[in-house]
Amino acid sequence: MTMPSPTIEPRHFRDVMGHLPTGVVVVAGRRVDTGDPAGLVVGTFQSLSLDPPLVSFSVATTSSSWPKIRPAEYFSASVLADGQNDVCRAMSSKRDDKFAAVDWNESTDGAPQISGSHAWIDCRTVRELEGGDHLVVIAEVRRLEAGGGDPLLFHRGRLGGYRELQF
Ligand SMILES: Cc1cc2nc3c(=O)[nH]c(=O)nc-3n(C[C@H](O)[C@H](O)[C@H](O)COP(=O)(O)O)c2cc1C
Repeated sequence: MTMPSPTIEPRHFRDVMGHLPTGVVVVAGRRVDTGDPAGLVVGTFQSLSLDPPLVSFSVATTSSSWPKIRPAEYFSASVLADGQNDVCRAMSSKRDDKFAAVDWNESTDGAPQISGSHAWIDCRTVRELEGGDHLVVIAEVRRLEAGGGDPLLFHRGRLGGYRELQF
């Protein structure tokens, strides 16, 4: 027997799920029509499969940036480093000129990689799945490279840093 779905208040959902710390990743690509960079911050980026190498993230169906990135298929995921708070703020805004004050380089596939990041993963979208008010994007990894420093972290609506403890 299927139990009725309980009502979960959106604010409560966000509050409790905000206790799950995440990295801060900029997903960015180039518009095929203008060549302009487009991107957004996601906290849902994760590795999905080793063989074949796949990653995934979820993006709101209301995102204005993902429809600009999608047509090119290729995008780059930049894992932000400690201290890149201003990049996080700019790339999670709704501004049209998100990249105006952000340094970036072009990946081999032509996608924007944020300079000074903690790691970069160059990807090609292979599938999109519906997930409520989000889409789950599945992408193949084409190449990836680690940078230096520590990661930027997001927890309970705030940015912070990584602190190492004994395992
Ligand atoms: C730390 C952090 C994590 C976020 N994670 C996600 C995410 O996983 N998926 C998503 O769609 N938006 C996420 N957002 C919100 C988008 O970055 C923000 O709404 C962005 O500006 C999207 O706008 P646009 O696509 O209309 O440009 C996150 C924002 C922050 C600051």
